[in-house]
Amino acid sequence: MTDVWIFGYGSLVWRPDFPYLDTRTATITGWTRRFWQGSTDHRGVPGSPGRVVTLVEAEGEICWGQAFLIDGNDRSDVMRRLDYREKGGYSLHDVEIDFPEVDAPPASGLIYIATPGNPNWLGDMPIAQIAQQVLNSVGPSGANTEYVLELADALREMGAVDHHVFDLAARVRAGG
Ligand code: SIN
Repeated sequence: MTDVWIFGYGSLVWRPDFPYLDTRTATITGWTRRFWQGSTDHRGVPGSPGRVVTLVEAEGEICWGQAFLIDGNDRSDVMRRLDYREKGGYSLHDVEIDFPEVDAPPASGLIYIATPGNPNWLGDMPIAQIAQQVLNSVGPSGANTEYVLELADALREMGAVDHHVFDLAARVRAGG
């Protein structure tokens, strides 16, 4: 199989947990990150879901993340592991990835998106309520607060601005 780029915008940014040949700060256009997906297998449990990110379509918006180049020889193994990890409502989509920090052309790649209507979809809610839900949620992968704070730190480190994530992280740090 050929090498493939994966664009991560959530836990894949700060905990890829798979082998890769190269990684770059990257952007995609037309999508915005939202804590609108429920998690019953990582950051919450059935009946008490945590909140994790997905992408929603937003014309002209730029979403920052981290791209990983998977070796063609590892591809089927890595994709099998990622399909399992992202099984709580995410499906695989094609995406065009830009690399603003290097002199390289855009690349076609893959991305996991949880679209409205999947069984764990939660949708929009006032940010204060999302923060409360995050503060109250723990799952097999750990506290929901860790997911929010690690993602905010990773985005800040790459120089990205994401008001939705930063606002939520500030509320979570402040305890609600
Ligand atoms: C991603 O990180 O790209 C997908 C969502 C997640 O695993 O948090």
